[in-house]
Amino acid sequence: DWVMTDYAQEFIDDVRKTVGEGHVIGAVSGGVDSTVAAVLMTRAIGDRFHAILVDNGCLRKDEATKVLKRMREDCGVNLRCVDASDRFLDLLKGVTEPEKKRKIIGGTFIEVFQEEAIKIEADMGKKCGYLLQGTLYPDVIESISYKGPSATIKTHHNVGGLPANMNLKLIEPLRELFKDEVRELGMALGIDEASVWRHPFPGPGLAIRILGEVTRERVKILQEADDIVIQELLNSGHYRKIGQAFTVLLPVKSVGVMGDGRTYENVASVRCVETTDYMTADFYHLPYDVMGKMSSRVINEVRGINRLCYDISSKPPATIEWE
Ligand code: XMP
Repeated sequence: DWVMTDYAQEFIDDVRKTVGEGHVIGAVSGGVDSTVAAVLMTRAIGDRFHAILVDNGCLRKDEATKVLKRMREDCGVNLRCVDASDRFLDLLKGVTEPEKKRKIIGGTFIEVFQEEAIKIEADMGKKCGYLLQGTLYPDVIESISYKGPSATIKTHHNVGGLPANMNLKLIEPLRELFKDEVRELGMALGIDEASVWRHPFPGPGLAIRILGEVTRERVKILQEADDIVIQELLNSGHYRKIGQAFTVLLPVKSVGVMGDGRTYENVASVRCVETTDYMTADFYHLPYDVMGKMSSRVINEVRGINRLCYDISSKPPATIEWE
């Protein structure tokens, strides 16, 4: 794909000129945007790009380990992971209000990132002058002009959410691109398909998919269930046709039978949507046999869940996330 190869080369030349011998820092999540941005930056300046992955304790099953391995070993990115799970989960204790969860996670994320940046600079004895962000064109537009439902009903903090007081100059290689173009660019850069085709994952992570209080035990339950759901979508070939898929843990208990015993356990719901822009979405018509497989696996394999539902709401009026 010559258009994207040219785009990449132009960016690399530009960055080398602007950054010179300087250092760049940036947060990565392992999602397609931050992965593509990080790989581009690594091609341009190598280890003078310092990527930070913050584990907020609300990531998917084994996510931090997988991202670390993929980014470091497969993409050669100079990445370090900060395990701040305890800090986040302690702050989330007793919190049930969705916007409050977002505020805590967003605010703490900035603190942790900043502290880590200071450590990196201390180790090098040098300042980082630049901040890499994987901002896309729709984010740019939305932050300037969009006053629609998600902007006013939910605060999304993936735009402009990083430290203003660090005095860093922003570098945003993807700010002219749409999501599908970022995927094309990712393919042109030789990033593995699984990374390029991953569904988006919200900054607050599983915290807004655990309705009610977020506890370590509930994170673990949801991680296990969600992992099975995603595996079954991948196995059945539906993952790629879906815009976003995930599992939600409800603050509801239901009665079930297991062997000769009665159970009284959690209910979870699977959400799969078809969408192009995430502003509107239809529930995905997942075949019953795939649902059946998910349900028997989740209920048999995950301790703490005895009922699985499928969300048949479209956006609007429902949103994609439940919180
Ligand atoms: P909704 O639920 O508003 O979601 O229909 C639209 C898209 O935005 C994602 N989303 C978030 N992303 N921080 C993020 O980084 C957030 O607080 C947040 N809330 C929703 C959601 O996953 C979907 O892709």
